Amino acid sequence: MATATESTAAAGLRGVVAAQSAIGDVNGEEGILIYQGYNIHDLAEHSTFEEVVYLLWNGRLPKQDELDALNAQFRSNYAVPSAVIDMMKTFPADADPMDVLRTAVSSLDFYDKEGHATDRERATNAAIKLTAQMGTIAAAWDRIRNGNDVVAPDASLSIAENFLYMLRGERPEADEARMFDVCLILHADHELNASTFTTRVVSGTLAGIYGAVTAGIAALAGPLHGGANTNVMKMLIEIGSLEAVDGWVDNALAEKRKIMGIGHAVYKTEDPRATWLRRYSRTMSEKKGDMKWFEMSQRIEKLMLEKKGMHPNVDFYSASTYYLMNIPLDLYTPIFAVSRISGWTGHILEQYANNKLIRPRAEYIGARDLKYVPIAER
Ligand code: COA
Repeated sequence: MATATESTAAAGLRGVVAAQSAIGDVNGEEGILIYQGYNIHDLAEHSTFEEVVYLLWNGRLPKQDELDALNAQFRSNYAVPSAVIDMMKTFPADADPMDVLRTAVSSLDFYDKEGHATDRERATNAAIKLTAQMGTIAAAWDRIRNGNDVVAPDASLSIAENFLYMLRGERPEADEARMFDVCLILHADHELNASTFTTRVVSGTLAGIYGAVTAGIAALAGPLHGGANTNVMKMLIEIGSLEAVDGWVDNALAEKRKIMGIGHAVYKTEDPRATWLRRYSRTMSEKKGDMKWFEMSQRIEKLMLEKKGMHPNVDFYSASTYYLMNIPLDLYTPIFAVSRISGWTGHILEQYANNKLIRPRAEYIGARDLKYVPIAER
């Protein structure tokens, strides 16, 4: 078989600029992330997830009445069609929540008669439904698989509050809800990451938004993308104690194993999202009176900086933050989708608005000029 030696193709499309976008930008050298011109720190400090969604979709911050209108649209669309919930009840209880999310979101298409429309108005209507319902599906699945009644969404709550409410059956405390809201802000967009690029490829064929988002969920599920946050927590649990960290990290590095939540393909300095999540991991630890996971994480961070010059990424401290919020480990990646749906749909709307089919070339390395041999003669 031919091998890809001296390829002119960029492995993993690294460094290839594949689209123009006004939605977000990552400056990996300086550790700066912006959404539509606004620094992520400014948004995390002052904004809400819903306001950020408006920003990503419209290119500017909303006036109060515009935000009120969007909030009203989200809230009137929190409930997913009952047929989708009924379908989820037939799934095996051990189904992976990302597989459930992918399948349920795909089926939402059946219940939106205008779900294949690619004009701005109707595609935005579908984007509103998808953004409103992602958390409803993720929380409902956790209830269903545990044999509990599904908690209906509460239209008086924000997307962040509602997710925690539907998951637990009780309203979250205000400080926790605010932290979770900022977590959604931090994960909302990250330029042409693998899942967002996937959504652009699918919508670039003028396929409907539900199909494009379904494909994005499939891409996000992989351990090299959204799946890393769950693996960080599994790693912390496996290490087990602060005393065991040094030996565990030494062993892992000697065996050339990667430390989950460390390193980034673009950031060469502190990931600005990690700054917030480190703070939240500490706050949640203090609130719960359990500093173990935070202290272990800090020690791993210090060792990896000293030994490899590598920094934590967005997944590193989100793991212990969610853990201390009593969120099941395998819901961390669905939570990523609850947030990233805003960036995906922003990119899909941008793609529809100025569409060109995405169709790169492959560098052919196979054989040529072979003569067909009848099967009996091979
Ligand atoms: N722990 C230990 N070593 C790591 C590492 C980690 N988390 N991440 C990278 N390295 C090492 C690699 O082993 C490699 O070493 P080598 O040159 O001796 O072979 C070198 O650093 C380059 O790694 P590479 O995977 O090619 O770099 P990248 O910039 O393409 O990788 C990631 C970026 C995110 C894929 C990578 O850092 C990683 O796998 N991190 C862990 C998973 C994770 O947290 N993913 C979520 C990303 S938001």
